[in-house]
Amino acid sequence: MSTFQAPIGTHDVLAPQSALWEGLVATFAEHAYRSGFGLILTPMFEDVGVFHRGIGEHSDVASKEMYVFQDRGERTYALRPEGTASVVRAFVQHQPTTPFKAWYVTPAFRYERPQAGRYRQHHQLGVEVLGTDDPALDVDVIALAWRFYQSLGLTQIRLLLNSMGHVECRGRFVEVLRGHLDEHREQLCDEHRVTWDKNPLRVLDCKKAACLEVTDAGPTLPDFLCADCHAHFGHVRAGLAQLNIEVTLDPRLVRGFDYYTRTTFEFVADALGSAQNAIGGGGRYDGLSEQLGGKPTSGIGFGSGIERLLLAREAEGVTSNLINRTIDVFVVDTTATQVASSLADQLRNAGFAVDRAYDGRSMKSQMKLADRSGARVALLIGPQELEAGQVTMRDLRSDDFEQAQRRVAREELIDVLRAHLQH
Ligand code: HAM
Repeated sequence: MSTFQAPIGTHDVLAPQSALWEGLVATFAEHAYRSGFGLILTPMFEDVGVFHRGIGEHSDVASKEMYVFQDRGERTYALRPEGTASVVRAFVQHQPTTPFKAWYVTPAFRYERPQAGRYRQHHQLGVEVLGTDDPALDVDVIALAWRFYQSLGLTQIRLLLNSMGHVECRGRFVEVLRGHLDEHREQLCDEHRVTWDKNPLRVLDCKKAACLEVTDAGPTLPDFLCADCHAHFGHVRAGLAQLNIEVTLDPRLVRGFDYYTRTTFEFVADALGSAQNAIGGGGRYDGLSEQLGGKPTSGIGFGSGIERLLLAREAEGVTSNLINRTIDVFVVDTTATQVASSLADQLRNAGFAVDRAYDGRSMKSQMKLADRSGARVALLIGPQELEAGQVTMRDLRSDDFEQAQRRVAREELIDVLRAHLQH
């Protein structure tokens, strides 16, 4: 075993698996671009107050799971546990024109108990939009996620949808829920028997049978929506129906952060079973800009875990490549000259993916590498070819030796390769 290992709950991703990551990011970027989003990059760490915004902040992520540290200047920072707060902080700082539409790909750090699909460093693809509360935007954002999942080949995905109402509706609901929980506190699970009072919404999120029984008999969010929030939610549902995006209404869906208002949603991959099956989630956060010192500005977005998307694809048996990262050509050179370098350079400049051997290996050893590289074609150059200004082109996937191999003049090589590889 090596002296150092990747930290618990983290993973190295090496090629060829990393090609799936590249494909996922490229596909998401394409969807975001088609919907008018621009890429945003923000620091991996922020002042801890960006994520832990004081009173009223009781999410597990902010209160127990953050990686918090002091730098040498004694500033207290946190590694980003999620993308939204950073984007809103940047929005407040730079005051771009609205609607401000940003997409991101980022690692996120949470000190959780690692298990399949739950890591201490995971990676999210996400979008955020600030500056409008038009329900058509909610529909657009949800549709972006939905179409993205479809283009990954996922079919067993359910969209759970709820509205938490704006701050007042939500506040009235929480008060009634608090009363209900107070009455039944002895029946709650071990954790929530002690902590229910801090933020009753967390109890709604609890999957333990004891809490489920109590909250099932309690008040439900939709009953507390004011006329405006009710209408807003109606528009969102109608908009999704028009796009044929099927929705499962889930009045319990409050999600894990305290900033959510109005539309909240989660995408569940049924193929993953019941644990860690959320491949994405998001919603509106109409008060977050103000909490971070900005003007009141409504916002909405979602984040989707890359690791879970890949697990969901695997569980559904989807094997399609999202991006081609295989080598086209492997150069096998036994001339002990620089010819492999110039040939590889020439072909790369023409757009081919080219690899080669180093260290003056034997022909046999270079051919082994060529096979292992996954290249379709090997180009062999020995003293004879060098002398004649030619290369021997061998198709590594063909069984017919005669057919597979032929001599090609250097000046015709690019055209011949293009035709052969259908480049
Ligand atoms: P979240 O639900 O905490 O929301 O995370 C979004 C997604 O990240 C989850 O649905 C899941 O796929 C993945 N994920 C979360 N935690 C882990 C973990 N420990 N290991 C592996 N995957 C994980 C947010 O982070 C919000 N910022 C989403 C949002 C954007 N809301 C509005 N805008």
